[in-house]
Amino acid sequence: MVSSSLRGRTIVVGVTGGIAAYKAAALVSRLTQRGADVRVIMTESAAKFVAPLTFQTLSRNPVYTDTFDERDPAVVSHIDLADHADLFIVAPATANIIAKMAHGLADDMLSTTLLATTAPILVAPAMNVHMYAHPAVQANLRLLAERGVRFVEPGTGQLACGYVGKGRLAEPETIADTAEALLAEMAREAAGGHPLAGRRVIVTAGGTVERIDPVRYITNDSSGKMGIAIAEAARDLGADVTLIAARVTAELPAGVEVVRVESAEDMLRAVMERFDEADVVVKAAAVADYRPAVRRTSKMKKKEDRLTLELEKTPDILAEAGRRKTKQLLIGFAAETDDLEANAMDKLRRKNCDLIVANDVTAPGAGFDVDTNAVSVFDAAGRTAEWKVMPKREIGLRLMRLAAERLADREAEAP
Ligand code: CTP
Repeated sequence: MVSSSLRGRTIVVGVTGGIAAYKAAALVSRLTQRGADVRVIMTESAAKFVAPLTFQTLSRNPVYTDTFDERDPAVVSHIDLADHADLFIVAPATANIIAKMAHGLADDMLSTTLLATTAPILVAPAMNVHMYAHPAVQANLRLLAERGVRFVEPGTGQLACGYVGKGRLAEPETIADTAEALLAEMAREAAGGHPLAGRRVIVTAGGTVERIDPVRYITNDSSGKMGIAIAEAARDLGADVTLIAARVTAELPAGVEVVRVESAEDMLRAVMERFDEADVVVKAAAVADYRPAVRRTSKMKKKEDRLTLELEKTPDILAEAGRRKTKQLLIGFAAETDDLEANAMDKLRRKNCDLIVANDVTAPGAGFDVDTNAVSVFDAAGRTAEWKVMPKREIGLRLMRLAAERLADREAEAP
């Protein structure tokens, strides 16, 4: 499972009237599967090729075809759609919609919404080979490109009109991949450039699995969401990221090196193998504090009524990293139920961390399997930041921006 930059994003797909409209159904299906909230607008002629119900079913959202089809009296549909779009895709785009976009015409729901949106626009043209090559179409495409519209080039092959040539709609998979790359690029820009460019960041995530025998183990409820959000943030800020993931239930990110591990022992090894080259090490994993003292090689049989499992301490990875660190900025986590500040500061000193991210796991909106968190960040001088309930993605970005600042400060202070 790989998470995508489409997850949770609103994508408006404009479908215009060409035979390739049927391929737009596969596109909507792929975008939805990758986690996007897809809103479809069809032109009247598109609705002659494919029934709006197809798109409604695939997107699980109502399909818009008419500018004056106002369902919710509280909003103006085309403005609402235009405002909520993170990305606008027109696929297939006929010569007609390309001309309307180029010249600012707004005579139906799709062209009106396209004019009202400030979201980036991705156009996938599909038409007869001679139409595509026509100087008027080419001039319109150039005009749109100059205004920042992006394109997914049509393919070459057998066209529905009988000709062989350029004009066939790009494959839905290619359009979805291009949309994903475009949103990832925007996320990087929104992150404020690349303050972690050239830095190596190691992030650990998830709960370790400590085996009792070949079929049984001890683990915890960690979903890995916080660590994954940090890895994604570091990636978006330009870092070279390694995510060392134990048991996670959240989807793993694209664009980072993922190393899967099972136990605390494996995680220690994976971290230490990469430690010397790292600039930032974030220990967001929920590492088991204890493991079975004996790991049996064959399945335990039931015998007595009571069974005592002897546990021993696992290696403390963060403390080991604290002993070994030279240039690394070391960030630990602390899940606390009481005395947050005192416990966090104690952990910071004991484990020789530069920052401790502490959360009160009893607070609403914080903790394991939720998409939000609320944390305080401590350094050697005490509390340095407090981030109230917000998406883990935002906490990840703030933490990685803070890490970038701390690294830059150190370099500025260095003799
Ligand atoms: N950690 C680690 N290795 C362990 C246990 C914990 O690297 N064997 C790391 C965690 O990834 C986290 C930090 O240490 O970043 C804090 O974990 P926690 O279990 O709260 O630390 P303890 O000092 O064991 O806390 P407590 O005494 O409250 O159990």
